[in-house]
Amino acid sequence: MRIIIEDNYEALSKKAALMVAGQILLKPNTVLGLATGSTPILMYRELVRMHKEEDLDFSEVITFNLDEYVGLDRNDKNSYYYYMFENFFNHVNIKMENIFIPNGMADNLEEECKRYERLIEEKGGIDLQILGIGKNGHIGFNEPDLKFEATTHVVKLDDETIKANSRFFNRIDEVPRFAISMGIKTIMHSRKIILLSNGEEKAEAVYKAIYGPIVPNHPASVLQLHPDVTFILDRNAAKYLS
Ligand code: GLP
Repeated sequence: MRIIIEDNYEALSKKAALMVAGQILLKPNTVLGLATGSTPILMYRELVRMHKEEDLDFSEVITFNLDEYVGLDRNDKNSYYYYMFENFFNHVNIKMENIFIPNGMADNLEEECKRYERLIEEKGGIDLQILGIGKNGHIGFNEPDLKFEATTHVVKLDDETIKANSRFFNRIDEVPRFAISMGIKTIMHSRKIILLSNGEEKAEAVYKAIYGPIVPNHPASVLQLHPDVTFILDRNAAKYLS
């Protein structure tokens, strides 16, 4: 495991974008695993800048998003589909047919999970997975106490996650109670993983992920077992690391 501590959110976002760009230069048809939430927003902005000003080419890149809310339409501004197009896909030369996001509106959600998992396999697996981390240690929407062996599945969101994510919605009761998420097993099968975290409110979750026991109660702790994981943190998120 590598731990990189940057002075601030801007610097950590630039470092993450550089790593993604490096991966794309090395392998133009890279399969990227992508995260949503507030943490990766500046990384996406920097990748868009690199595309516009430095010709970073996404024409062969394939992407799989980590998760999506159940029951939100693509056009709903809180769906992760909307987020990805708004913050990233609309501004780079990625091909529509290379973008994969779980469909939270599918009639048969179980079937959708299986389809998603099959697609990841068909495209050769994820080369580089970007992750954020929840205050309770969740990665994707893998909430505490979910089994490490889970593949893409439907999850019931924790009250803490619903509360945390309600900041994007008008009212807390508008936050979906369920989501589709890649499972821990799916994430652990990625060849490389980069976890981004900034801000003091994540410091404890980051500390437990790196130094805590490897337990389903703190999902990100499983990353200690991955052979190629890099944490990129700002000073606040790294507060408890010595
Ligand atoms: C959300 C997402 C995760 C994200 C995490 C942290 O619920 N499902 O993929 O990493 O919570 O979000 P944020 O970056 O906004 O703190």
